[in-house]
Amino acid sequence: MRCDQTAAWKDLQQHAQAFQGFDLRTAFAVDAARSQTLSQTAPHVFADLSKNHLDAATELLLQTLAEQTGLEAHRDAMFRGEHINLSEDRAVMHWLLRQPAGSLSGPLAEPLGQVHDTLDAMLAYAEQVRSDTQITDVVNIGIGGSDLGPQMAVLALQDFALQGKQFHFVSNVDGHELAGVLRGLKAESTLFLIASKTFTTLETMTNARSALQWFKAQGGRDVARHFAALTTNVAAAADMGITTCFGFWDWVGGRYSLWSAIGLPVAMAVGAAGFKDLLAGAHAMDQHFQTAPLAHNLPVRLGLLDVWYRNFLHYTSRSIAPYHSALRRMPAYLQQLEMESNGKRVDRTGQALTYETAPVLWGEPGTNGQHAYFQMLHQGTDIVPMEFMAVTKPTHNLKDHHELLLANVLAQAQALMLGKSEAGGHKHFPGNRPSTFLLLDALTPASLGALVALQEHRVFVSGSVWGINSFDQWGVELGKVLAQDIHSRIVSGDASGLDASTAALLQRIRA
Ligand code: F6P
Repeated sequence: MRCDQTAAWKDLQQHAQAFQGFDLRTAFAVDAARSQTLSQTAPHVFADLSKNHLDAATELLLQTLAEQTGLEAHRDAMFRGEHINLSEDRAVMHWLLRQPAGSLSGPLAEPLGQVHDTLDAMLAYAEQVRSDTQITDVVNIGIGGSDLGPQMAVLALQDFALQGKQFHFVSNVDGHELAGVLRGLKAESTLFLIASKTFTTLETMTNARSALQWFKAQGGRDVARHFAALTTNVAAAADMGITTCFGFWDWVGGRYSLWSAIGLPVAMAVGAAGFKDLLAGAHAMDQHFQTAPLAHNLPVRLGLLDVWYRNFLHYTSRSIAPYHSALRRMPAYLQQLEMESNGKRVDRTGQALTYETAPVLWGEPGTNGQHAYFQMLHQGTDIVPMEFMAVTKPTHNLKDHHELLLANVLAQAQALMLGKSEAGGHKHFPGNRPSTFLLLDALTPASLGALVALQEHRVFVSGSVWGINSFDQWGVELGKVLAQDIHSRIVSGDASGLDASTAALLQRIRA
């Protein structure tokens, strides 16, 4: 049943009205167990939800909403491999990529076998490249899910990475990016990974062609050794002359493809064992999501909190603050995950919705954000739920730094909640500003895998409750089509039939 038709939806609307005077400081004062009841552990992740604008009654109502919208049946359909991506008639099985070999019987046994055959081949190749000392630079050319996941993970796991190889990520069609990377490279010591699920994406194809031209112009001959394609479209890669190829399947969405051949740069950086640990961490979170009761299921609790904030308290964004510099691309990665998955205005059957869906996601690593936009979070007119991420144990031994970092993340969450009364306006902090705190013991391949899978599943939960298809992205198509038309007009100068603004800009660009 659609969420806005359920009894729980109406109950939550009423509950939200009664909730208007809610104050975090009072909530903690009257409930000594609040921090405990609104915290939990999940594989590799401890989560404290207690500084959020909700209470036990809110969570109960949200769980009822999940039941009435069939969340568990929908989740189970995904894990059975049903075609829950209705508009593209596809299964949604990124989770299968981290399923241990031989662990499934029935119709999924065969695709699982293919997953492991490809994984073995990809990891063997990763190890071969790792031990190839002539290759000093690996350039990943891809965009969106074929860039953000591997880039985020290679950065996040830099302390586990092999020394002596540089990883570069080129995504933008803006030639300044590729030219800047190529400037420092030599053909004989560079490996290009052309990462594209479809092998049709304009940016990636343009960059790949330019990289091939550059390679040949530098005297490079052996394309099979210096170029590899990571794609579901092996034929298109072969048409470009790239025969070293690692495939995946249409049931892996681009923004969910880190675990597939798209993760090859990660495997090259951290090795086969490290990549397997990443998969194992994610698999542990898959199992938690599949088996934990709703009340103690972390992706469910986070996804339902997102629904509560968006539809009942009407908060429009969520700010991500990873207090670990290696997680600095996490906000960008999560932006695609949340906003491309759940930025939808129709339900699964194409009917227009009358309620809000994905929030705006944004953020920067801490403590940097504190000296930039945290002013608005503390004293601005909007309430922005924060999501802090912190790691208990550092991997460096520089004195004082980590204690200061952790002191800051705790202090920010505390300051947002407690505020400070002061006469005179400017120095007054209203407090009562909500935040979630995610804590990893250490940032490792396994804990990163669990953290990312947690985020994937929380996006599934809110998308499922909203009744939308979180696995298509039709909204990116119109701009692509119009860009083709305008590209030919930039070349020809033909502005006929264009709207007045676009025509004037075109003429100015060509002048
Ligand atoms: O345009 C959006 C998109 O299709 C994303 O969903 C995807 O991650 C990205 O482009 C890249 O697509 P591909 O891997 O097919 O090049």
